[in-house]
Amino acid sequence: MAVLTQKKKKHNFFAGPAILPAQVLEQAAASVVEFEGMGLSLLEISHRSKQFVAVMDDAFAMTKSLLNIPDNYEVLFLTGGASSQFFMTAMNLLPEGGKAGYLNTGTWSNKAIKEAKLFGEVLELASSKEQGFNHIPKGFDIPKDLNYLHLTSNNTIYGTQLQSFPNVEMPIMCDMSSDIFSRPLDIEKFGLIYAGAQKNLGPAGTTLVIVNKDLLGKVQRAIPTMLDYRTHIAKASSFNTPPVYPIYVCMLTMKWLKENGGVAAMQTRNEQKAAMLYGEIDRNDLFAGYAHTDDRSRMNVTFTMKDDSLEAKFLEMAAEADCVGLKGHRSVGGLRASIYNALEPSSVEVLVEVMQTFGKQFG
Ligand SMILES: Cc1ncc(COP(=O)(O)O)c(C=O)c1O
Repeated sequence: MAVLTQKKKKHNFFAGPAILPAQVLEQAAASVVEFEGMGLSLLEISHRSKQFVAVMDDAFAMTKSLLNIPDNYEVLFLTGGASSQFFMTAMNLLPEGGKAGYLNTGTWSNKAIKEAKLFGEVLELASSKEQGFNHIPKGFDIPKDLNYLHLTSNNTIYGTQLQSFPNVEMPIMCDMSSDIFSRPLDIEKFGLIYAGAQKNLGPAGTTLVIVNKDLLGKVQRAIPTMLDYRTHIAKASSFNTPPVYPIYVCMLTMKWLKENGGVAAMQTRNEQKAAMLYGEIDRNDLFAGYAHTDDRSRMNVTFTMKDDSLEAKFLEMAAEADCVGLKGHRSVGGLRASIYNALEPSSVEVLVEVMQTFGKQFG
């Protein structure tokens, strides 16, 4: 069977769906043909078969062990994308007459705010909108009577990232879609964490939710069965047919993560990759970083060319060196290199070489 080896692979800087480890793709491809000697594809078996239940159990166990998740938290693999968590968070956790505080750091926070407003009072505590979301607001007040604080840990589009999480009395609800598993976390600070899988975890189609179950059941409103976290907790994410293949691939990615030293090792590797790339952006006169230095993301590196007219030429040269996915998000333009866990440092080296060569030719 033909498989895509690391040797043949392009340097994948897409923001999501995004790069997955080569060994994960190989195993995932093989399991589509035949799963564990069953004479059947993984795609053809019941989600209630013992073989698939074992996959689910591994996915839960891996998540808990990689992120050191305490026993009063539940791990769920849901559908509906991170976008459904924008409303599910508030529907399940913002009590009637309650108040939630949101930090607006970009498009995704903005969408989360809009949905939460359907369920109660929402305070936008601070926003960097006026500055094109190029930094994370600091020094804003966090009222003590909030039911929760909502944060977006990494702003995929703008390339900003929270370097740490505030110490607050109320639980933090956090959209970690684009940096989950990129660094160790103190889970107890969070009431709920959600992440669409398709950036740092697996393919599109499932959303990881980690929730402190002690916070559930405190709202009076009627919640449709499928949108109630308690439904999915009670049925181990198999109340209805779960997205079997995405969950399987997430499980394989987490195994790869574990074999490669877990989230602490990923943090070191991600910091090294980011330092290499930001170093070149700062050194090379043709490029400028987009985000404030202190808030720079270690997952999505956003930058521009000081002379816009050179951008197409740069992308062409990058493509010749097999570097793909470098165009910035359509809403901000410029360039963006997503350097998720699975991206090898050697891919960043290739990109840096292209930037240097380009600098020599056009600088
Ligand atoms: C930080 C963040 N939150 C939420 C989303 C939306 O995720 P989904 O497409 O899974 O709904 C994205 C998607 O790019 C994202 O980057």
